[in-house]
Amino acid sequence: MQRWRRVLVLIAGMSALSAASVHGAPPEDGKAVFERRQDTMKRMGRPLYLGIGRVVKGKAPYGPDTVTAAESVASLASTLDRALFPPGSNVAESKIKPEIFAASEHVDQLIAAVKTAAGKLVPVVRTGDRAAITAAYTAVADACNACHTEFRKEE
Ligand code: HEC
Repeated sequence: MQRWRRVLVLIAGMSALSAASVHGAPPEDGKAVFERRQDTMKRMGRPLYLGIGRVVKGKAPYGPDTVTAAESVASLASTLDRALFPPGSNVAESKIKPEIFAASEHVDQLIAAVKTAAGKLVPVVRTGDRAAITAAYTAVADACNACHTEFRKEE
């Protein structure tokens, strides 16, 4: 009786394990994460540095597109997490510094700072007040750069 129960538990355990390996999502490979990271960064960079940055610098007029740009930055920033910077994603084309892989908690803080700054961007950009927009823009750009300075290689 006792022995049968142990065998059954063992069988249940084995089938749970094989079910997990069949149905579990395969781990994303380094190249795929790199591409996803690159894409996310570009899609945040364009609206921030061009969409809003050009308005801040007086090179483009303020308008509804400026608000749309702020919304894009905020919504993408809200998706950032440490899973975008995993070990193995430093493929040949990547500029990521491998030191980032051992700095998980610090990365969480850098990301949290970007999220906080980006969350303030949309309401401020909606006001159309150029000085306030400049301050909010600078706060976001500084938060992004805090990570770049530490964990992205120069050209
Ligand atoms: C936690 C770290 C981190 C944060 C926060 C971060 N980045 Fe990045 N970013 C990186 C790293 C690392 C790279 C280099 C990625 C690579 O080459 O693999 C990068 C690359 C980029 C690039 C270059 C993409 C290309 O085409 O080569 C842009 C643009 C960019 N980031 C914009 C932003 C913006 C805008 C924000 C803030 C809203 C931001 N990043 C926040 C780490 C970060």
